[in-house]
Amino acid sequence: MTKFISISQAIKKGSGQIAIRGWVYRARGSNKFKFIILRDSTGVIQCILPREKFEKQWEEIDKIQVETSLEIFGAIKKDKRAPTGYEVQVSKINIIGLSDEFPIQKDLNEELLGDRRHLWIRSQKMTAIMKIRSTIFGALHEYFRNKGFYEFQSPLIIPGGAEEGPTMFEVNYFGKKMYLAQTWQLYAEAAMYALEKIYCIAPSFRAEKSKTSRHLTEYWHTEMEVAWADLDELMNYAEGMTKYVIKKVLEKNKDELKVLERDVKKLQPSLKKKFPRITYDNALKILKEKKKMKVNWGKDLRTVEEEKLMEIYDTPVFVTHYPKEEMAFYKPRDPKNPKTARCFDMLAPEKNGELIGGSERDTNIEELKKSLKAKGEKLEDYSYYFDIHQYGAIPHGGYGLGTERLIKWICGLDTIKDAIAFPRTMSRMKP
Ligand code: 4AD
Ligand code: MG
Repeated sequence: MTKFISISQAIKKGSGQIAIRGWVYRARGSNKFKFIILRDSTGVIQCILPREKFEKQWEEIDKIQVETSLEIFGAIKKDKRAPTGYEVQVSKINIIGLSDEFPIQKDLNEELLGDRRHLWIRSQKMTAIMKIRSTIFGALHEYFRNKGFYEFQSPLIIPGGAEEGPTMFEVNYFGKKMYLAQTWQLYAEAAMYALEKIYCIAPSFRAEKSKTSRHLTEYWHTEMEVAWADLDELMNYAEGMTKYVIKKVLEKNKDELKVLERDVKKLQPSLKKKFPRITYDNALKILKEKKKMKVNWGKDLRTVEEEKLMEIYDTPVFVTHYPKEEMAFYKPRDPKNPKTARCFDMLAPEKNGELIGGSERDTNIEELKKSLKAKGEKLEDYSYYFDIHQYGAIPHGGYGLGTERLIKWICGLDTIKDAIAFPRTMSRMKP
């Protein structure tokens, strides 16, 4: 049986007889030759078929168009003129699957590329992003496992009660109203009492009516929860994790970053420098002094404010101690500055905004109830959550990373939609 090798293996081999298979990336021809650029998941290579050798098959070969799948046998050799520096002199070709005219040409608008996403993901750009995404998921798992975390999963169909009621998708669950989870956190806090250090990468769902370049309605949420941890320890993890992921991508995905024309110099400072940690109060001061931007104390930072602030930095920045009343109910009041909560957001440079949100957790049941009531939540939805803190409550905390936002930043993408193969947004549900 023929031993097929991948295109990257063939290029590594560099000479001699090879058998490769894949899809036509580009094809052109004259009366005397057919030039095919073949692609597989590992790369592309130019293949040459002289007509005189393939006279009997020529009619069939002439029908080959973009995305036709082929098996190719021949001799590989270096050739400076070929797109990837190597060329295959074809001695035998098997056409496996013919292709209709591929409905993706240059200059398609974003809407059409979105409609034809199932085909567009074969492109060099999307392939590069999907490979980097795979590195990032792998690195996140490695980071937490290396640090002694257990992977813990929570239900995604939940009875209610989470970040903010109105932004949940309803599910008709055998006639009962249920919701899609926005976060793993409340179940994670229950499991923290058993496993102490846990993490998860899973989908979260947000029915926010936000049409920005950083909002998906379904995204992959990387969350962690740690027993006995305070704010500094949580930020150390967030920083260590981010650095680890960037390092892995820079090691493994040089070629893909090149395809994306990512200026990797923009990522280097984040490997070398410590990420600044500033309070919300300080952030307002900096915005006023350096950016002539006045923000009234008491509101969460808006996108424009985050972006202005981040123009000053070339690494992510932690902003801590946001106003308590604006924050989710579980973020505890800071005893030293009771108007603020013991929480942080990690903001990214280059207009990428909030990547991570995290906090210590309030275990004071009366405080929790007060916050929930102030937000108009039904206390009975949270009874299990109060219950877990009745039995040996301890200080603990955690955070959530929008994995696609990290991918968007690392890849230097204009929109979060390209950070995932089949995005879900307010206006994009198909394919
Ligand atoms: O700040 P958020 O809402 O925090 C939580 O859900 C906490 N329960 C996490 C935790 O402590 N375990 O969401 C966390 C992160 C945000 O910083 C953002 O990066 C991402 O999730 N995120 C989104 N990403 C894409 N599309 C959306 N609509 C997102 N909403 C939040
Ligand atoms: Mg947040």
